[in-house]
Amino acid sequence: MPGKFITLEGGEGAGKTTCLKHIEKRIKEAGIDLCVTREPGGTRTGEKIREILLDRGNFDILDETELLLMFAARSQHLNELIKPALAADTWVLCDRFTDATYAYQGGGREIDVQRIAELEQWVQQGLKPDLTLLLDLPVEVGLERAGQRSTPDRFESENIAFMQRMRSSYLEIARREPDRVKVIDSSQPLESVLSQIDRILTEMLHSA
Ligand SMILES: Nc1ncnc2c1ncn2[C@@H]1O[C@H](COP(=O)(O)OP(=O)(O)O)[C@@H](O)[C@H]1O
Ligand SMILES: [Mg+2]
Repeated sequence: MPGKFITLEGGEGAGKTTCLKHIEKRIKEAGIDLCVTREPGGTRTGEKIREILLDRGNFDILDETELLLMFAARSQHLNELIKPALAADTWVLCDRFTDATYAYQGGGREIDVQRIAELEQWVQQGLKPDLTLLLDLPVEVGLERAGQRSTPDRFESENIAFMQRMRSSYLEIARREPDRVKVIDSSQPLESVLSQIDRILTEMLHSA
């Protein structure tokens, strides 16, 4: 049986990277081989594309260029790392994936979602995560948490309206795909967030 593909989604400062480490520990404790990765990035080429995408100096990147770069990195990631890992019965845990493209480029930048769906079909051919944990919290709270972390990147520098469209898009995906996408209230203290995640993860580990 192929490995499971789990993704973490949410806005800036939602706690994805923090929770990722906890999930990694839980899965490894269960004796499962795990590959931990992130988007954009995850491969040598993908990380170079990430640098272009996050660099605030790149103020001239057009919306479509941004979208295509996201999928270029994703194509490399899927073919070089994710698909071979899953085929070898290794689970894959990824910090952001295609839902982030719908939320940021679709919601935030207001690119026609049909465009995104066409690229998704082309690059993924139906491959989707088995489980997506959507860490949801008010935009202002996330930005405040992220702000204490480091200087904002090209996406973290976007305005509140952009972030609110992004959050709505994420929640819309969760409403459409409730079996795959589980919404976690990440405005709660970390212990509560982790216990919400543990409940879902335990179910998945038992069914593996
Ligand atoms: N539930 C929480 N309550 C309070 N602070 C949190 C919580 N989860 C994460 N943080 C803190 O918020 C900041 C952003 O978390 P991070 O995991 O980097 O978010 P993301 O990867 O989603 O942008 C970090 O300083 C982290 O320690
Ligand atoms: Mg992070």
